[in-house]
Amino acid sequence: MRTTLIAGNWKMNGARGRARELIQAIIAGLPSTPNYEIVICPSFVFLPDAAEALATSCVGLGAQNVCDQDQGAYTGEVAGDMLAELGCRWAIVGHSERRQLYGESNALVASRFAAAQRHGLTPIFCVGEKLEEREAGATEAVLDEQLRAVFEHQGAQAFRSAIIAYEPIWAIGTGRTATPEQAQGAHAYIRNRVAEYDDAGAAAELRILYGGSVKPENAQTLFRQPDVDGGLIGGASLHADDFLAICRAGDL
Ligand code: PGA
Repeated sequence: MRTTLIAGNWKMNGARGRARELIQAIIAGLPSTPNYEIVICPSFVFLPDAAEALATSCVGLGAQNVCDQDQGAYTGEVAGDMLAELGCRWAIVGHSERRQLYGESNALVASRFAAAQRHGLTPIFCVGEKLEEREAGATEAVLDEQLRAVFEHQGAQAFRSAIIAYEPIWAIGTGRTATPEQAQGAHAYIRNRVAEYDDAGAAAELRILYGGSVKPENAQTLFRQPDVDGGLIGGASLHADDFLAICRAGDL
């Protein structure tokens, strides 16, 4: 049985005081031993405060990206061991905003994925198609290409210690959520591809999150799909009540 994982991606939002308040509100609203796992991914600069606030809680800490290199002249980047030292256990890689707005290629994302694993961080590896790709019937081809880049870099067992987040780009921050059937279809495709590269047992264990306008109202239907193992939550993770309601929907 895969444990549902709810990850909050705060993106570039918040201020220091607001981040502290949000964390306190989330911790206060959670049961002491939930049946689901929770991770929050604040901006890099809020990670030290967040690590302190979360230290005795059940909530894990993740970064929104990680440098593919370990050290040196990489201005603006943050290395995996720096994140691990701050208490991060997770790192989002390949978010569509990184791919689309900052030109991160499949190859670079695969290197970032590798760096996360090298430093003991679990990658939350994002994949997903654009609207025009879905309309052209290319969703599976896009997902395949994104997955293949990681397998080619990291080998067939790449996803044994990773999470995949299926995030159709047309659903991110748009209020337009994939239907449960669309999400289930893409997730089943991803799991099957992982089974082909690795093996069926490992693929069955892999957690695949859905991301893209998850809200308290749609979370439970999405999480009840057989291949949906939780969510990567953007906008709604900035509101404690909404995030907590989505967490509760993960209590299946
Ligand atoms: P959203 O973002 O929930 O605001 O659509 C999800 C994400 O980008 O991870």
